[in-house]
Amino acid sequence: MSNVPVMGSTFLFGYVSAIKMLSTYKQTLLDGYVKFNKHAFQIPGLLGWVVFVSSDLYDDVRKARDDSLSMVEASKDNFAFQYTLGQNVVNDAWHNSVVRKQMTQNLGAKFPEISDEIATALEDGLNLSADDDWKSIDAHDLLEEIICRTSNRLFIGLPLCRNPEYTKISREFSITVIQSGLLINLFPSFLRPLVARYVSPAPKAIKGFEKYMVPIIEERWRLERELGDAWADKKPNDFLQWMMDDRTGSQRDARDLTTRMLTLTFASTHTTTMSLTHVLYWLAAKPEHVPALREEVGRAIELHGWTRAAINDMHKLDSFIKESTRCSALMAMGMPRKAMRDVTLSDGTLVPKGAKLAINIPAVYSDPSLFPTPETFDPWRSSRKIEQGENEVKHALTTASSDFLLWGGGEHVCAGRYLAAQEMKTILAHILLNYEIKFAGLPAGVRPKDKWVAYSCLPDLKARVLFRRRQS
Ligand code: HEM
Repeated sequence: MSNVPVMGSTFLFGYVSAIKMLSTYKQTLLDGYVKFNKHAFQIPGLLGWVVFVSSDLYDDVRKARDDSLSMVEASKDNFAFQYTLGQNVVNDAWHNSVVRKQMTQNLGAKFPEISDEIATALEDGLNLSADDDWKSIDAHDLLEEIICRTSNRLFIGLPLCRNPEYTKISREFSITVIQSGLLINLFPSFLRPLVARYVSPAPKAIKGFEKYMVPIIEERWRLERELGDAWADKKPNDFLQWMMDDRTGSQRDARDLTTRMLTLTFASTHTTTMSLTHVLYWLAAKPEHVPALREEVGRAIELHGWTRAAINDMHKLDSFIKESTRCSALMAMGMPRKAMRDVTLSDGTLVPKGAKLAINIPAVYSDPSLFPTPETFDPWRSSRKIEQGENEVKHALTTASSDFLLWGGGEHVCAGRYLAAQEMKTILAHILLNYEIKFAGLPAGVRPKDKWVAYSCLPDLKARVLFRRRQS
């Protein structure tokens, strides 16, 4: 435990406070920020104490390497990835560089497929008949299906991305990894391997995925052998192939590739779905912003067609998404890290070896010196600055910064953020142009209440959104 001041009680190593705070973390984090005048403080959690710092120390955390403040070790402590995703994936995450390089470079070329999958999945999921007026939809479920299909269109292509059994494994894996990881970590470390044997979702999910993936991988290897140089022109352009091309000789292993495909599914599905559900709820609650967004989306599509360039030209949409994620931040912990040795931050805070550290997201996002009238949902906070001549990239949805913490930062900054942003914007663009949405039975301006569970802020998963085809 560090010697920085404490919020809550240290009684019974903080467990009593940790349990009491399960539903009040947000308020505790806001109170601590004021009480300690933006200086570091720590609070107990079920998985140990966490030192929370303000965004003034963003650069300290961003610049730290894994041998001082480790993202990988913090993830193990928080999510037990070594048991749920497997040691190989955690110890050598080489697939991350495929996400950063090959995947990101291909997002423009793959845009037509991504957009096609979104339009088709939306139509399939909504299933509106010609005479349907408003139809009540489980929005979280709809978005999860669209995102899962769309990401898998890029990862493995048609027809597998639409296979119900395959997408079911993908969708379930994302959530069970988080749940089982938390459960495993509640046990003392010597018991975790044993507990993991019973609760880890990985063996079943890998087996389910292998049924589809291994024949595809083996067929591609066969064609590569038989076709030689001619394979280069014929091979698919998808994530599986980019990973296969990255591996040579004895590195080639179908089970390892399958596990990494699942890992990717985990990294992409839950995060994008939860973020976009928050955004969609804001959009349904604030119909007064729809005309400006529609105008922008319509103009960009008219200018560039349905292309990545059009999506990149939608600054208001970027701004709306950023503001939604500020008002309903997915996570309270920004850039969670574990100190691998005693680390002294630039303000003198000592983070002792073994302690966990994170940026206090709720407090940063409610700080009036960073966000004037922070309690107001102001969707054009970022786009207004661009209109006033500030740098576009600085305020883009894909740019991580000390006051935009969705993607973390530094060497581990979300590798898939360009895909996530592209998917979220393209889904919203399709909805804005083709459908109308609203909440049933809620007064204008009100959205279903977010639910804080420990450090996560979940949208109300029982809320339903009414959809109909656009009338005007
Ligand atoms: C809205 C959706 C998403 C959110 C909010 C999100 C958020 C994050 C965050 C907070 C981190 C850790 C950064 C840090 O601690 O500094 C991260 C890492 C990562 N994300 Fe995302 N992510 C999203 C979507 C995706 C997608 C779609 C993919 C892949 C297709 C992806 C792949 C990754 C990978 C591979 C890492 C690890 C990077 C590394 O350790 O080098 N993410 N993401």
